[in-house]
Amino acid sequence: MWKSELAAAILLTLAVGSVHAKDYGIGRPATPGEIAAWDTDVRPDGLGLPKGKGSAAEGEPLYEAQCASCHGSFGESNDYMAIAGGVGTLKSDAPLRTVGSKLDYATTLWDYIQRAMPFTAPKSLTADQTYAITAYVLHLSNIVPLDAVLDQNTLPQVKMPNREGFTLKHGLGSVKGKPDVQNTACMKDCEKTVKVRSELPADFTASMYGDLSQDFRSIATMSKVSTTPTKPAAAVAASPAKLSAQYACSACHGIANKVVGPGMREIAAKYKGHADAEAKLLAKLAAGGAGAWGSVPMPPQAHVPEADRKTLIQWILAGAPD
Ligand code: HEC
Ligand code: HEC
Repeated sequence: MWKSELAAAILLTLAVGSVHAKDYGIGRPATPGEIAAWDTDVRPDGLGLPKGKGSAAEGEPLYEAQCASCHGSFGESNDYMAIAGGVGTLKSDAPLRTVGSKLDYATTLWDYIQRAMPFTAPKSLTADQTYAITAYVLHLSNIVPLDAVLDQNTLPQVKMPNREGFTLKHGLGSVKGKPDVQNTACMKDCEKTVKVRSELPADFTASMYGDLSQDFRSIATMSKVSTTPTKPAAAVAASPAKLSAQYACSACHGIANKVVGPGMREIAAKYKGHADAEAKLLAKLAAGGAGAWGSVPMPPQAHVPEADRKTLIQWILAGAPD
């Protein structure tokens, strides 16, 4: 009851206060019916549970038809999807996290199933079906007998095996009795300028879920937003430093210092201001040779594609920047 009043109060505030959200061209205002359909949270004490009832026995065929394909007939499934068993194992060497072993309140199970399951058709179960299936799932972990009937009053009374297992001790700090993290922000030696080191291509981020205008979900539709890629995703060019590693230039040339051949920045310094340096070095690179820096020759690098040779020489002459 209080919830619909709250929703009404919020709507009223919006109307009276004439708060107009900017129109982003996405969606439309929610109707009171839609708000009611989503405003379904259930509290540990049962507040928010709707009328209705169901027994574990009634839940069995429903579970078999709508849940067993993924969670297994006995809720055993694999580790990821097991929802039964494991009670009391959380502290053992082989903890099995299931709703039976981890939840502290059975109402959470009701809420989750109602809201999220079956995975492919969430919110499709009626209140009666949800009570029955919840009872059956609890029965699979021997928490309630097969003839248990769950409803608004009996469900909150189910005592989950892990009721006392929750602790506030794991938080680093405590804020009003609840755990929270606590740290002191380090404000020393901070970066002066923020450098964006990598970015997702804009087209990719916009279209990673396909063209939203073609997405015909019944809720939160974005039919006005076209996100068709405007251009094909560009191939990411390899950085010169990567090419240098790929072709093993860096095996013989340090960035600053000599290894077998001169350091890249030594080369840049030597040819600084020489207009024909790029052409000369390109030829030298392809042919190999000795004499400019000493008697050790550089083997010919003609196997490196011409475009990459050019990229490398330009990069070296620019002082091999990061
Ligand atoms: C198509 C496969 C599929 C079907 C059918 C299905 N589920 Fe699930 N269920 C999942 C997946 C996947 C998850 C894990 C979801 C996640 O982690 O976000 C899950 C999670 C759950 C959980 C939470 C488990 C936990 O440890 O927190 C419960 C409870 C549950 N399902 C119950 C049901 C019930 C009851 C039904 C039938 C009404 C059902 N499921 C039908 C796939 C399915
Ligand atoms: C096996 C070692 C070796 C490898 C691999 C190598 N170099 Fe060299 N490089 C040398 C040596 C030695 C010299 C000095 C040659 C000289 O004295 O003329 C040199 C010289 C150079 C010069 C200067 C040439 C000049 O005349 O001043 C450039 C530019 C150069 N290398 C670029 C590259 C690039 C780019 C690659 C990778 C595609 C590469 N090198 C791979 C050994 C190597």
